[in-house]
Amino acid sequence: MSLAVTTDGPDVLVLPVRAATAPDDAAPSLVATAPPPADEVRGEAEALLPVTRLTGRAGETLTQLRPGRTPVRLMLLGVGDGGERAWRTAGAALARAAVDETHVTLALPVDVPAGVVRALVEGLLLASYRFRLTEAGPTPALAGVTLLTAAPDAYTGAVETARTTAAMTRLARDLTNTPSAVKNPEWFAARVADAAADQPDLHLRVRGPQELADEGFGGIVAVGAGSASGPRLVELDWRPADARLHVVLVGKGITFDTGGISIKPVPAMKLMRKDMAGAAAVVAATLGAAALRLPVRVTALTPLAENMVSGAAFRPGDIIRHYDGTTSESTNSDAEGRLVLADALGYAARELRPDLLIDLATLTGANAVALGKRTGALYSDNDELAAAVLAAVADAGEAAWRMPLPADYLEHLGSDLADRHSSPDRGAGSVMAALYLREFTGELRDRWLHVDMSAPSWADGDDAELTRGATGWGVRGLLRWLATLD
Ligand code: BES
Ligand code: MN
Ligand code: ZN
Repeated sequence: MSLAVTTDGPDVLVLPVRAATAPDDAAPSLVATAPPPADEVRGEAEALLPVTRLTGRAGETLTQLRPGRTPVRLMLLGVGDGGERAWRTAGAALARAAVDETHVTLALPVDVPAGVVRALVEGLLLASYRFRLTEAGPTPALAGVTLLTAAPDAYTGAVETARTTAAMTRLARDLTNTPSAVKNPEWFAARVADAAADQPDLHLRVRGPQELADEGFGGIVAVGAGSASGPRLVELDWRPADARLHVVLVGKGITFDTGGISIKPVPAMKLMRKDMAGAAAVVAATLGAAALRLPVRVTALTPLAENMVSGAAFRPGDIIRHYDGTTSESTNSDAEGRLVLADALGYAARELRPDLLIDLATLTGANAVALGKRTGALYSDNDELAAAVLAAVADAGEAAWRMPLPADYLEHLGSDLADRHSSPDRGAGSVMAALYLREFTGELRDRWLHVDMSAPSWADGDDAELTRGATGWGVRGLLRWLATLD
């Protein structure tokens, strides 16, 4: 990816096309670019439009071959209404349409906003993601893109931010796509250590099984008990000297969820390697905050465990003592995420005492029942915080919807044996899980926000900037939101 003012003889030139805006424009139109294309090329593009049936819809592409001439291929790219979302989609479509090209040159519109360039670059870099475990032959991907603009200096920051955001989203996708035979808690912690190495303002502490037991992290220990790969708690701290605010980001890190003794049926278990997508997102967002040197202290806290079936596994009916000293009755070992998060939230509220506390978790199947496959379920008692995070998530091209925390469901958390019940069978699944988590936020109750992102953490197929498999949901939204704090 590079920015340039001029180019000599591009092989492939891409020109943006705006959608018709009824009723004024009956037809799509070529966007004025700076610098403009050569008269001959522009004339040809103008002449093509009426005969191509292009509508200018974001992501539409058309390639015109020009043998013996320069450029040898002319590509028209639909950019819809010209907004950030449309350009993100267009960037993604370009990455796919030009997958066999080694280099393309895209002419940018006159005075294009920096946010549009950011969206375009994110779309390009995210849509060209592929997860590969082996080096089995080259994966085709567009190697080079030159963005042609009269004012390259105006966009270097946007391109850098987009690069970092995409790199961190791709890291979260890699971690989440990795099979669980490789990805146990120790492995995940080691990948965080790799990524945090040679960053002097990043501090990493990893607690192992013995420390977790000694310090009273009873939820993490119980959930991890059935696995041959012991649990971990990763605490990754970006602590810039100029920080005024401190945010703790907690992420659910179940490296595989069999359901435990309350074992999942085959179809429900097959994708459970993704049950650490929350942990991947908060780690990647924290690394991104460090890479962008955002002036806010960010601590990622990821309780990591493998929920397995074995003679050492915790049982339905067990009573678990959490970090904050309270107890949970657990009658379903498949409701394991909230048990590990309870410890992490309790630890954050008691020991780290941040200004704001956020958690991301692939917590319930009920997220998709309520909101479908693309939208996270967001919970908070703080209207201002909820609005700010929702706006950042939407601006970043992700989706979340605010859900209620109704007081009249609280009675379902009651238990005869313990302080609360962790897996009540009444009330709405995603809502009850959120109500349960809120119990552990202590003094941060009104400065806490939770997203159940089970559904949008995974895509069934390629779509715009999403690629099949892990989506890295949350990294883009969190980075946007963190950048608004100072
Ligand atoms: N990891 C699952 C939730 C999940 C389901 C994530 C589908 C992604 C896709 C979680 O640990 C779980 O099993 N939740 C149970 C909770 C129930 C036992 C109260 C669920 O949703 O069924
Ligand atoms: Mn489960
Ligand atoms: Zn789970």
